[in-house]
Amino acid sequence: MLTDESRNYFTQFDRWSSQDLDNFFLLVDQIKLNPESRPLNGATTALLFFEPSTRTRMSYETAAIREGLYPLLIDGAQGTSLEKGETLEDTIFNVAAMGPSCFVVRGPDALNFRALSERLNVPLLCAGWGKKAHPSQALLDVYTLREKFGNLRGVRLLIVGDIIHSRVISSLLEIAPGFGLEVGFVAPPSLLPNVTSYPIFKNLSEGLEWAQAAIFLRVQFERHQLELDRATYRQSYTWQRYHDSFLQRGGVLMHPGPVNYDMELPEEVARHPQSLILNQVENGVFIRRALLRLALGRVS
Ligand code: CP
Repeated sequence: MLTDESRNYFTQFDRWSSQDLDNFFLLVDQIKLNPESRPLNGATTALLFFEPSTRTRMSYETAAIREGLYPLLIDGAQGTSLEKGETLEDTIFNVAAMGPSCFVVRGPDALNFRALSERLNVPLLCAGWGKKAHPSQALLDVYTLREKFGNLRGVRLLIVGDIIHSRVISSLLEIAPGFGLEVGFVAPPSLLPNVTSYPIFKNLSEGLEWAQAAIFLRVQFERHQLELDRATYRQSYTWQRYHDSFLQRGGVLMHPGPVNYDMELPEEVARHPQSLILNQVENGVFIRRALLRLALGRVS
């Protein structure tokens, strides 16, 4: 299992081996099989969300309570001393002085998670770091794919949409090769990473012809100033009725959420039995319970 050093630093996967990931998923399986077990009874965890969230915040809150941890929450700046000019770092160090057993933090690119985790003397779990990382989302995505396909070696996974601004995909690409997933991209050139060794498809139809699973991403207009013509985007990258053949031949689709139905997928496709979107959310709670257990060293 993970070393003490990596326990106090969970922002990227550079200290996780393939064996760590396999062991971690075994822990998630154990929690799913025995959801009533609560080895963390009575400790507190500070959930500090400095950027908007629905799924990750509620999921960590649920996970904390199901593990027997009391969640202490900051949700945005409103009503906090951030409104009076206090820095994010000072907010975190003041909360640290109150003695939580661990931190779960979502913050912008400018927040130095690495430096923070070295200064805090309790574990820091990253719940989304600007455009850089979203490790718990990557874990729940791979776990959900494993539930569907079993062994992921050779499974072809298409990533569709705003890849360059996606912290979800940054984290996913760190662990996908270790599971043998084959990854392909489809996106307008302005939303593709500069250098990629992955196959790039001209449009969604070509990508879906190749893929067995597809992750759709929201265009994160709030994170860039790119001129992007929505009508042109829809012609090549938005799901159309004729793409339903992908589902008919057993393809599955995913989305980290939130979904914009007019840009990515129609609502009825997101709710299709071959859509794993709510499986991702359900698995997210087990993944975060396992992360909290691991972070607090209560893994039996
Ligand atoms: N997937 C995800 O991070 O969703 P939220 O922004 O709602 O937490």
